Amino acid sequence: MKKIVCDSPFLAAQAAADVFEEQIKAKSNSVLGLATGSTPIELYNELASRCSQGRFDFSQAQTFNLDEYYPMKADNAQSYRSFMNKHLFSKVNFANSRVLNGEVSDPHAECAKFDSEIEAVGGIDLQLLGIGHNGHIGFCEPSTSYTLDTYLVDLTDDTIEANSRFFGEGETQPNQALTMGVGTIFKARKILLLITGESKADITKKLFDGVLYTDVPACLLLLHPDVTVVLDKAAAKHL
Ligand code: F6R
Repeated sequence: MKKIVCDSPFLAAQAAADVFEEQIKAKSNSVLGLATGSTPIELYNELASRCSQGRFDFSQAQTFNLDEYYPMKADNAQSYRSFMNKHLFSKVNFANSRVLNGEVSDPHAECAKFDSEIEAVGGIDLQLLGIGHNGHIGFCEPSTSYTLDTYLVDLTDDTIEANSRFFGEGETQPNQALTMGVGTIFKARKILLLITGESKADITKKLFDGVLYTDVPACLLLLHPDVTVVLDKAAAKHL
């Protein structure tokens, strides 16, 4: 794993944007895997700003998002579709943007369709990830066994608690989600893991301990041939 430690979350977002810029300049029709959560917001701002400066554009690129709550209406303010519209898709033009559909009656069919769509476009070139405090990637939660393909997952209490900050009073927070499985994530040719903030320092240390902790899904990335981890100083505090 390649590690880039930056002085601030802002500089980490710049370093992550450099990876996207390099990717899109090398292959204009790249297939990009995207993430939600607090961590990538600064990166998405930076990508939008670089596009508006005319440094590059994403007009031939396609995107696939890691996950979506289930059940969840796409136009609900808490959906990951709404998140992506707000932070990126409203500012940057992509050829196509696919987010798992949390409204379907058959979630398993939706997951299978999603994986075959990724395969049909030749696979993901660059997959962006964040990490949960419990080590999850996407919504692949710590377990003794891991589902490879995109699947319907029961969220852990930790994750529900961590994400409750996004839900206002009276808003129902789902306890399930559709997520890329670790196999789908692993098929990406290149992975960019962005980690910021002191609250991630403990889980970050586990990632760099030189041990594959089986209850830390992110540790599976240790086996992937092309992973870049971009961190800020706070997240890298114990390294
Ligand atoms: C988001 C996702 C999650 C987040 C993780 C960190 O699509 O799949 O794995 O990356 O929960 O979230 P933040 O960035 O909010 O700390």
